[in-house]
Amino acid sequence: MSAPAVTDQGGVRGGEVPSASPGIVADGHIGCNPAVHCPVLRAEGITKAYRRGVWPRRHQLDVLQGADVELCAGEVVGLVGENGSGKSTLMKILVGTLGADDGTVQISGRMGYCPQEPLLYDRLTCEEHLDLFGVAYGMDAAATVGAAEALYESLGFARWRDTQVAELSGGTRAKLNLALALLADPDILLLDEPYAGFDWDTYLKFWELTAERRAAGRSVLVVSHFVTDHERFDRLVELRAGKTVSP
Ligand SMILES: Nc1ncnc2c1ncn2[C@@H]1O[C@H](COP(=O)(O)OP(=O)(O)O)[C@@H](O)[C@H]1O
Ligand SMILES: [Mg+2]
Repeated sequence: MSAPAVTDQGGVRGGEVPSASPGIVADGHIGCNPAVHCPVLRAEGITKAYRRGVWPRRHQLDVLQGADVELCAGEVVGLVGENGSGKSTLMKILVGTLGADDGTVQISGRMGYCPQEPLLYDRLTCEEHLDLFGVAYGMDAAATVGAAEALYESLGFARWRDTQVAELSGGTRAKLNLALALLADPDILLLDEPYAGFDWDTYLKFWELTAERRAAGRSVLVVSHFVTDHERFDRLVELRAGKTVSP
């Protein structure tokens, strides 16, 4: 089986990005007519199986069996499906932290990723996390401070800026996780169950931020195992039996 072809993974957070495979297309531009239809992310025919257990009980779990996803500029799309349907697996493949068995992923623009399990350092404060990720994103110090202040304000966690992650509540960790994904103002934002730990005010704030991104032509893909606010999404994609379908 061939490795998936992946283009331009700039700005990704959340883990190690696999090195380029020989089939990769160079510049990250997805060929399309922007006046008609302009995907910033396109994944086609993604397959992924996990090998589980040890011999003689060794078996293969086919999680993704030809999943396709497309995300256009200014679109907010929900990726839904039952627990265990492969949503996080697909998102990790889109971001590049997990290799697919087959299929292609094309990306045009900078990506921000909010993993389902916050990948935070217990002994660093919120401020230190934002500084660290600012450097990793290649932002200058003033831009990082400006973006961090705006995120403290909009997500309401400024009072925890000097607190180590080990001392934070689950909800504040979720806010920091989201803030790190938003820090560099990515073109494509991939969020894996971002509001699981949010209180109601933060949940509403999250949707305000998402609407602002849509209005600015940014794209957001939100994984959720349940969708209560259908109208907040432009479109839903459901993972069922390893394939993506319109629910
Ligand atoms: N690293 C792994 N090794 C083996 N099985 C895994 C691994 N990661 C996920 N799985 C299994 O793959 C299936 C899909 O998992 P996941 O992508 O996390 O689903 P979802 O996010 O939709 O709940 C589940 O049955 C899960 O147990
Ligand atoms: Mg998941």
